[in-house]
Amino acid sequence: MPRLSRLFVRTALAHLVVGFTLGALMLINKGVPLHPLLWRLLPLHVEFLLIGWTVQFIFGVAFWILPRFGTSRGPEGVVWLSYVLLNAGVLLVAAGHLIAGPAWPVLIGRAVEGGAVVAFAFNMWPRIKPFRDVVTGR
Ligand code: HEM
Repeated sequence: MPRLSRLFVRTALAHLVVGFTLGALMLINKGVPLHPLLWRLLPLHVEFLLIGWTVQFIFGVAFWILPRFGTSRGPEGVVWLSYVLLNAGVLLVAAGHLIAGPAWPVLIGRAVEGGAVVAFAFNMWPRIKPFRDVVTGR
């Protein structure tokens, strides 16, 4: 597994732990009311699990497993960029929801996440090809 994939998957696992912890806190809060403000954690729970965990895990495994050009996995700079943008976006969206202030941190965070997808797709696109092309080196 390449270094970038290990980084994606390990970071995704960290998001999973945080997301589950927030979910558990809200679940406990439903049975044993601790504090009404704990409900503010719901959008963070969703963000960490849907983007931080699920999307990030998929990116990590896709970068590792999709067809290569010989030994090369295509331009890696855009994938590093995607890693940085994805995590910055998740943190920005989470912070925006947590402070519950103006909408712009969430909006910018979403745009940054979109940038992560575009950067990732830039690497992935030429690697999506039939098996026969991989065998013949086309
Ligand atoms: C990958 C795993 C998970 C994903 C993708 C996920 C996603 C979500 C989503 C999208 C919602 C919002 C539902 C809505 O607004 O109608 C939600 C709510 C919630 N989740 Fe999770 N979740 C996950 C795991 C967990 C775990 C492990 C726990 C508890 C330990 C948990 C506890 C909760 C609670 C308490 C709510 C609020 C439910 C309510 O509205 O009463 N979630 N989750």
